[in-house]
Amino acid sequence: MNISTVSAPGKLMLLGEHAVVYGRPCIVTAIDQRIHVEIERTENTTLVIEAPDVDIAGYEKSIETLGSGNIPKGAMFVEYAVQKFYAKYPCVGGVRVSVSSAFSSQIGFGSSSASTVCVIRALAEIYGKKLLAKQIFAIAHQAVLEIQGSGSGFDVAAALYGGTLYFVAGGKTVEPLKVSNIPLVVGYTGVKADTSGLLGEVAKKMKEQPEKVTRIYDAIAKLVNDAKTKMIEGDWERVGKLMDFNQDYLRDLGVSSQKLESLIVAAKQAGAWGAKLSGAGGGDCMIALAADDKRKAIESAIESAGGQVIHISSSSQGVRVDA
Ligand code: PMV
Repeated sequence: MNISTVSAPGKLMLLGEHAVVYGRPCIVTAIDQRIHVEIERTENTTLVIEAPDVDIAGYEKSIETLGSGNIPKGAMFVEYAVQKFYAKYPCVGGVRVSVSSAFSSQIGFGSSSASTVCVIRALAEIYGKKLLAKQIFAIAHQAVLEIQGSGSGFDVAAALYGGTLYFVAGGKTVEPLKVSNIPLVVGYTGVKADTSGLLGEVAKKMKEQPEKVTRIYDAIAKLVNDAKTKMIEGDWERVGKLMDFNQDYLRDLGVSSQKLESLIVAAKQAGAWGAKLSGAGGGDCMIALAADDKRKAIESAIESAGGQVIHISSSSQGVRVDA
């Protein structure tokens, strides 16, 4: 096969961010906004990337030098994914990779991890390698870790497996949860989260106040486990309450922001069962859980507070070969 087109979903962290980096569980859902990657085999021994959404046009590099030198930000994840794949499964020839996204790379839906997963899945397809999901996870997570320095891999898992997952860092546990139609409302702050910066700040806090931070993480782990049960039961009101508790802990950890807080307060005043930030914090999106009859009022409240409502549905299909 010479060409393969693959897509993978973006994600939203539902509960357990930050604590998951320190061995606790989290719950993540794959959303119906996808990254699309087309890979074509070429005779040259180069990687060519076209990714107009992140300002990459005609970027070309020899396969041997992948991962070294100056790499533009928009090409980073694709380049590392290709490099890791070729290192593990030596292949002849080069590839042309085209990436397009249904969502902006600015909003925190995990476009980098989703494109990394797509690239590895598509390479496996064109080179006829039958890889297990676990093998794809290992290569993709390694690529992401090399670029970011740290990270639990929850976003890689969401892109790969899809659905709603109970996840422990590094893929130690990846448990699909039988839930559908999570009644989510999503509000974008308009601010890009600095995930690496926040991870650094939290790591510093862990060094300075290990007891306090450990207490917070243990409490988050407990509420994530409670939420898992309540989600399966469909008790969204209770899950909303647990989101509120999670947000209290994240605020204590210092990763919330004024903008996030104002969207969260607006959603709750308009009748949400609960609301919290989603992801590293500092910006990106907040999420709320709400009954159908409250949704409209909550969406207007988020907009009045300066947020942008994004319509998504949860538990979407993981990476798939589209053509
Ligand atoms: O900022 P995001 O959406 O990539 O989420 C980061 C979530 C963390 O738990 C803080 C980090 C991680 O890799 O789990």
